[in-house]
Amino acid sequence: MEKAKKCLKIEPVLLLAVILTGFCLVGCSRAGSMSSGKRIVRVSHGQSEEHPEHLGLLAFKDYVEERLGDKYEVQIYPNEILGAAQKAIELTQTGAIDFVVAGTANLETFDKTYEIFSMPYLFPSEEQYQAFMNDREYMETVYEATKDSGLRVMTWYNAGTRNFYGKKPIRTPKDLKGMKIRVQQSPASVAMVKAFGAAASPMGFGEVYTAIQQGVIDGAENNELALTNNKHGEVAKYFSYDMHQMVPDMLIGNWKFLEGLSPEEFQVFKEAAIRSTEVELKEWEQAVEAAKKTAKEQMGVTFIQVNTGEFQQKVIGLQQEMIEKNPKIRDIYERVMMARKWSEEEPVTDGTWQVGQTKKGVIR
Ligand code: GCU
Repeated sequence: MEKAKKCLKIEPVLLLAVILTGFCLVGCSRAGSMSSGKRIVRVSHGQSEEHPEHLGLLAFKDYVEERLGDKYEVQIYPNEILGAAQKAIELTQTGAIDFVVAGTANLETFDKTYEIFSMPYLFPSEEQYQAFMNDREYMETVYEATKDSGLRVMTWYNAGTRNFYGKKPIRTPKDLKGMKIRVQQSPASVAMVKAFGAAASPMGFGEVYTAIQQGVIDGAENNELALTNNKHGEVAKYFSYDMHQMVPDMLIGNWKFLEGLSPEEFQVFKEAAIRSTEVELKEWEQAVEAAKKTAKEQMGVTFIQVNTGEFQQKVIGLQQEMIEKNPKIRDIYERVMMARKWSEEEPVTDGTWQVGQTKKGVIR
C-alpha cells in the first residue's frame, strides 16, 4: 500500500514529462505546444470527471473549439493528474500548462489580495456571495492582481460553503480543541483553524483521504462534495454545518498566453470562461443535493446542525487582525460590508439582488 502510494506520488511529474515530451516531438511553439498544426491548450484541475467544474470546463472547451477550432485544441486534465493545486499553479506560471482551476486559498502566496476569501464568515449568505462574485466589472480588477506572478484569473466557480468534518462529531468550537485539521496550503486558513482552537495541517487535496484514514489528521474542512467525489465520507462520518468560509475556485490562465492572443481570440476565451461558470453554477446546486443524499444514505455520514454564532465568535478578532495586517484586502472587505449593510437595510428578497443594490437602484 505504502509502495503504491509512493508510485502515485511521482505519477503527475512523470505524466507531465510524457505529455510535454510527446507534444514537443510534434513541435513546440514559443508559448506552448502544437499538434496537427493546432495550439494545444492544457487545462488542469483537481476534481473528478463528474464534478460540476469538469462539466463547466467541457463547456469552455466546446465554446473555444466551436469558434477557434482550426487553431486551438483544449485538453482537460482532471484528478490532479498534472499535480496538486500549488504545483499546477506553478506549472501555469511557467507556461508548461495554460490554465488551472484552483481555490483562491492557493493563490494567497501569489498575491495577498486573495486572502480576503479565506476570511471566515465574510459573506452572510450564499446569495450575497454569488452576487459579489458575479459582479464581473469589479472582479476584473481582482482577477488582474496576480499579474506580477504571470497569472490572470478568467472566471470563478462556486465551491460552496466550507464546514468541518471528521471522525468524531463537532458540535461546538470546544470539540475542535486538540484536533488536527487539514487545511488548504493557505496562511489565512492556518490562522483560522488555530483561532478555532485546533491544530492546522496544510496539505494537498489528494492526500486528505489517506491522512484521515491513517489518523495523521482528525478531520478536514470542505464542502459536501468532498465526502462523495473524493470519498472522504468513507473515513469521516460526521459533517458539521458551521459554515465558516465560502472560498471560490478560479480558472487561472498563464498571463503571457492570454496576452499573446488577438483581442478577438481573447474575447472568445473570456466568453468561454463565462459560459463555463454558468454551467458550473447550475450543476453545483444539484451536485450538492446529490452528495448529501449519497453521503447520508450510502456512506452513513451524519450531518450536524450547529450554532454558527458560537463558531463566529471565535474568529471575530481574526477578521480585524487580517484587515489591519493586509492593506490589499481592505477595498474588497469594505465593499462586501457595504453590500451587507445595504441588503440588511433594504433587503431585496425576490432573488434578483446584486452587489450595491438598494431599492433606489444600484450604487457603485
Ligand atoms: C474544494 C475546492 C478545491 C480545493 C479543495 C481543497 O474541493 O473546490 O479547489 O482544492 O476544496 O480543499 O483543497
